[in-house]
Amino acid sequence: MISPKELVSQMTLEEKCSLLSGADFWHTRSVDRLGVKGVMVSDGPHGLRKQEEKGDHLGVNDSIKAVCFPAACASTASFDRSLVRKIGETIGDQCQHEQVAVNLGPAINIKRSPLCGRNFEYMSEDPYLAGEMAVDLIQGVQSKNIGVSVKHFAANDQEHRRMSSDSVVDERTLREIYLPAFEAAAKRGRAWTFMCSYNKLNGEYASQHKWLLTDLLRGEWGFDGYVMSDWGAVSDRVKGVAAGLDLEMPGSNGVNDALVLRAVQEGRLDEKYVDQCVEHILTIHQRYFDNAKPDTPWDQEADHALAGKLAAECMVLLKNEENILPLKKGEKIAVIGEFAEKPRFQGGGSSHINCFRVTTLLDALEAAGDAYTYAQGYSLKGEEVDEALTAEAVAAAKAADKVVIVAGLPDSFESEGYDRTHMRIPANQNALIEAVAAANPNLIVLLYNGSPVEMPWVTLAKGLIEGYLGGQNVGTANRAVLFGDVNPSGRLPETLPLRLEDTPCYLSYGGEGNTAPYTEGIFVGYRYYDRKKMDVLFPFGFGLSYTTFAYSNLKLSAEKIRDTDTLTVSVDVTNTGAVPGEEVVQLYVGDRESTVFRPLRELKGFDKIALAPGQTKTVTFTLDKRSFAYWNTAIHDWHVESGIFDIQIGTSSRDMVLSAPVEVESTVRIPVHFDENSIFMDIMADPKAGAVMKAMMAKMGSAFGSGEDHGGSTEAASEAISDEMNTAMMNYMPLRGLISFTGLTHEQLKGLLDQLNA
Ligand code: BGC
Repeated sequence: MISPKELVSQMTLEEKCSLLSGADFWHTRSVDRLGVKGVMVSDGPHGLRKQEEKGDHLGVNDSIKAVCFPAACASTASFDRSLVRKIGETIGDQCQHEQVAVNLGPAINIKRSPLCGRNFEYMSEDPYLAGEMAVDLIQGVQSKNIGVSVKHFAANDQEHRRMSSDSVVDERTLREIYLPAFEAAAKRGRAWTFMCSYNKLNGEYASQHKWLLTDLLRGEWGFDGYVMSDWGAVSDRVKGVAAGLDLEMPGSNGVNDALVLRAVQEGRLDEKYVDQCVEHILTIHQRYFDNAKPDTPWDQEADHALAGKLAAECMVLLKNEENILPLKKGEKIAVIGEFAEKPRFQGGGSSHINCFRVTTLLDALEAAGDAYTYAQGYSLKGEEVDEALTAEAVAAAKAADKVVIVAGLPDSFESEGYDRTHMRIPANQNALIEAVAAANPNLIVLLYNGSPVEMPWVTLAKGLIEGYLGGQNVGTANRAVLFGDVNPSGRLPETLPLRLEDTPCYLSYGGEGNTAPYTEGIFVGYRYYDRKKMDVLFPFGFGLSYTTFAYSNLKLSAEKIRDTDTLTVSVDVTNTGAVPGEEVVQLYVGDRESTVFRPLRELKGFDKIALAPGQTKTVTFTLDKRSFAYWNTAIHDWHVESGIFDIQIGTSSRDMVLSAPVEVESTVRIPVHFDENSIFMDIMADPKAGAVMKAMMAKMGSAFGSGEDHGGSTEAASEAISDEMNTAMMNYMPLRGLISFTGLTHEQLKGLLDQLNA
């Protein structure tokens, strides 16, 4: 078998350049002379959107009938790695069956603002959670020898001006918030391909960003697959080839390949870059061809059932006053809202699946033989209140023991391609909820939405379920949770804020013209709300169950560690209720004192466990340097400051139930350099330089000003200058002050600096 490298060496420059872009919307090119075959790629990420005829990247034209799993907004809410792995494995099998070599997903950009039109497709506001879930999804797909394409790399967190906006993100924020999920996807997920994003990052298009595509992705993270462009993301193809963009999609009818060819011929581009790109692409495709199994069966019925089973694990129970849920057989139930018969279960755009079947809530109630009445309540076509529909809904509510209203965001309210401008659900739905609540207080609201919404009626609902976009068998999942056949165990992968104005990037989201400054820095999602002690509608990580859990026995493997050690943390969790249930055990780490701005606490571990009533299980986590570190911009590396860290077990980012301290000692000394403008405080904080300074101060005695006595001993003087002020004056004094105030010469100051920097 001839290796990709050898193949490349046998190709003409023209042949190699032709392989740098797609043959059409979904296929890569072939070189028949050498037996090099093209492959097919298809979207993702929550199903297979294989377009056999007319291709497009917006979900306009039909794709083959397929199965839609819960979208990432929902599947991430499961906090269940095995669940997304299962989705990945199933999609991998489907791709094998359909001879699709690469499934275009997962999409793992950070939910910076609830307004992003594509949030439904993204995983979380938290980079650790997004990274963990991405790794299992990737490994699931790739275990079937189908590639993923991790997208959209990077800092692609808005749809507004999506092909021209420039995400301006500082180094630390990039490293701590916007890159870790991609890092996990490359390092641990071992993704076959990455997809670069449309936007610019700090002034350069991602499609031609050498630092991003080569230095970081390949150099630091060890990525050995190929990078394709998002569809139409290429600006300067020649620059892109040298920067590490291997494949342009969907292609440019050969126009850009010709530019690359000419650049090589004219000596403006080294041919080795072309060779590398082709080799990367062929290596991955060979992996697929070597393991292609077109006879893999695709049982759509079985996948439909699976989609429903998994969706039930993703529902987040947010309120359950007076244990209004689960519903009981025999209760008179009114189901209200057009979504009950026309559910919204996936988002619009390139991820849109052509479902072979959709099971609505009404279908599921019918199938289970449940007695219920139904009223449409509102029209999904507009926002106008329809008096007749309202009256019918109110009458149904009055005649029922309990009411379930299905509400949320219609397709036009959130989609790929544009951002939302507000967080409201349609006005007619809000009005309906209020009217129905007045008629019957036993109200449960079930939401279909891909991103947080305002809930002006939240106190009126005794029961509340965040259903997200649950995939094509959403109805079965909803029914199972409503009736308690499945005990809800989803947790919010994002904070639900009270109002848009509260969100961290409210003042700068979307940007000015093409410039999108990430002004809130690392304070995204709960990192912001928790630091600011702000009220939120529901916090990150929150979700209820039909049972209760108790935590005990938090144990750390050590009281003190070095930053090169690992720390083992264990905690016991008991199901203290009457029914089986699953708990998401969340571990947060907070640095008590830091010289840099840090979040109050950050998620560094989670595990989902199933417990029978009365059962106890021990959950164990291993923390390493990254669990304690922040990105230090002086050393351009992760760094842990020595000090006490709190290891906390919480039921959300807000509610810590157990906590234990650990002392972490840094093994890295951040190099410091002092000059005449360095201030005393900073010098004294450095153990070595501080000692030099102390010795020198002692030598100089009172001429120097000791801090206790500022030179004036009269009462008037001490009224004018308090001890606090004197100390502050000293602390903030630059070294050059020694020249002004103690008569030190420039020569002597230079000598002192040499000692301090020694
Ligand atoms: C989207 C990608 C998608 C591609 C192909 C683009 O518009 O941003 O996520 O994979 O189209 O459909």
